[in-house]
Amino acid sequence: MDYMLTSSEKHIASEWEKYKGYTVRPVPSTLSYYRQHIHSLAAQKSCVILGGTPEIRDIFQAEHRPVTLIDQSEEMVRAMGWLTAAKKPLAPNEQFSKQNWLTVALTDPVDLVVGDDAINMVSWDEFPLFLSRIWQLLNKEGIFICHLLVKPDDELIDQEVEDVWHAYQTGLIKSTFDLASCLNFICFDKPSYRMGWQQTISRIGKDRLAQFKPELDFVDRFQLCNSRFCCPPQSLFEAIAEKYFTIEEIFYPHEHAYCLFEPVYLLRKKQG
Ligand SMILES: C[S@@+](CC[C@H](N)C(=O)[O-])C[C@H]1O[C@@H](n2cnc3c(N)ncnc32)[C@H](O)[C@@H]1O
Repeated sequence: MDYMLTSSEKHIASEWEKYKGYTVRPVPSTLSYYRQHIHSLAAQKSCVILGGTPEIRDIFQAEHRPVTLIDQSEEMVRAMGWLTAAKKPLAPNEQFSKQNWLTVALTDPVDLVVGDDAINMVSWDEFPLFLSRIWQLLNKEGIFICHLLVKPDDELIDQEVEDVWHAYQTGLIKSTFDLASCLNFICFDKPSYRMGWQQTISRIGKDRLAQFKPELDFVDRFQLCNSRFCCPPQSLFEAIAEKYFTIEEIFYPHEHAYCLFEPVYLLRKKQG
């Protein structure tokens, strides 16, 4: 399934500009965290980014450090390239490898893998396979920085549109970034742990979403974003992750209320 409902590189890039601050793109504190760990790793170490996340690519571009980008869609990685500092599909320090993360393999093991919401792209029953593939990519004691969305609290899911509207009007929901996430939360599919912009648009309906204009034109902003996030309960994710990795640290970005459900895990490969 295509990640975006348009295929022109430049169009994908211009749509993606609209998502700044919203859950799909990393916030500044997450980026500082990525930067700190990428810096602390010696420059000659080998690194992989899962996907084409422009903000992470910028960290590598600034230091001219080689990095391999692994994604099943070349179109997405090239489109994201227009949003990097290099402003081109692939910068000279970047190498693209077109692969599915569920079957990914590289000739040589790597020291660091960074994935921004990457694991959320696979279904819950595929989480163990995804983690085992990343485990296999890594050198002994290699690091996987895994940012993911986890299941929001039930009180946030079990609400009606009117409750969200009221919370926004009374200032309980403080920004349009959190408002967008709260609308996704009420459309969270409990059996599959899935949520996504298209699911939210079809469940709430364009007419009812129109009440949030002009502050948030949800449909105009997200109508071409087809990403679906599988967000399991945090404890279940940790139980699976600990089969393959030691959890060295959990970092929480702090810019928005939704960040509470977006931990960043520093995972170290366990010996097999
Ligand atoms: C990294 S994820 C989530 C968005 C992320 N927050 C970002 O900043 O890019 C988006 C990417 O996942 C890729 N993708 C989804 N499922 C995949 C899979 N099974 N294997 C490889 N790439 C996948 C899509 O092609 C898309 O480029």
